[in-house]
Amino acid sequence: MSTAIVRIVSELRSIVAAWRREGLKIAVVPTMGALHEGHLSLVRAALAKADRVIVTLFVNPSQFNNAADLAAYPRTEHDDAAKLASVGAHILYAPNAADMYPPGFVTTVSVGGVSEGLCGTFRPGHFDGVATVVTKLLLQSGADLAFFGEKDFQQLHVVRRLVRDLDIPIEIIAGPTLREADGLALSSRNTRLSLTERHRAPRLAEILLQTVKQLSSGESVERALTEGRKAILAAGFSKVEYLELRADTDLASLVTMDRPARLLVAAWLGQTRLIDNVEVPLRRPAVAQQAAA
Ligand code: PAF
Repeated sequence: MSTAIVRIVSELRSIVAAWRREGLKIAVVPTMGALHEGHLSLVRAALAKADRVIVTLFVNPSQFNNAADLAAYPRTEHDDAAKLASVGAHILYAPNAADMYPPGFVTTVSVGGVSEGLCGTFRPGHFDGVATVVTKLLLQSGADLAFFGEKDFQQLHVVRRLVRDLDIPIEIIAGPTLREADGLALSSRNTRLSLTERHRAPRLAEILLQTVKQLSSGESVERALTEGRKAILAAGFSKVEYLELRADTDLASLVTMDRPARLLVAAWLGQTRLIDNVEVPLRRPAVAQQAAA
């Protein structure tokens, strides 16, 4: 099956309207292209839950706070279309920047709370750009379901929040982070790593897991995070932007392990910024553990 490429929103809307008349369920998977297995796993999950799947491909300039980063972002539409055809996506929606942001465009969707701190601190304006383009893509597609990866955990929270706050009638479904055999989280940015950096990169996930172990064995949050930051630098990363423990449900900052949490990290390896996160389950008191055994 080939995947139809659509660039104009009115065309997308008339296809979606025809699907609706047939009573079909529609899913959308927003991406910036350079598709890897992580994206394809979201597309497969979408195909399992919906009759028709739209994958959007738009390298959104408004979420880049660095022009060089935007210029260097991989653009591989031809390969992406072939990958999408191989998994059976129905439409690749790849609008032009001039149509997404025509002259006179002045509206921004800005999500408070969950977009503050973490990447929000180090990439000013990033989540406004994400929230604005995701709002547009969800409304343009008119889908029933939208799929996002947990790898961008803060982004997932931002999207859930905006959908709730703006009453957008769509269900947000999260897909797990996919990893290379050595543990490195799949990311379009991994292609930018040199051989030496690629060799070092999996240490980030290993250190996250070591830190989770420390937290689970009762180490204080402050100490575990301090040790984790030191270990990342010792592994050859040039800078740790953050290594933080946040509540899984609302990203509240945690200083004690008193609820299910996420450990989130952003660190630089040479010119490449990597992010990752892992779940930190709530440690049950020893008595409860014995009772369950
Ligand atoms: O995660 C991404 O690829 C992007 O941030 C998204 C959600 C497609 C918005 O541009």
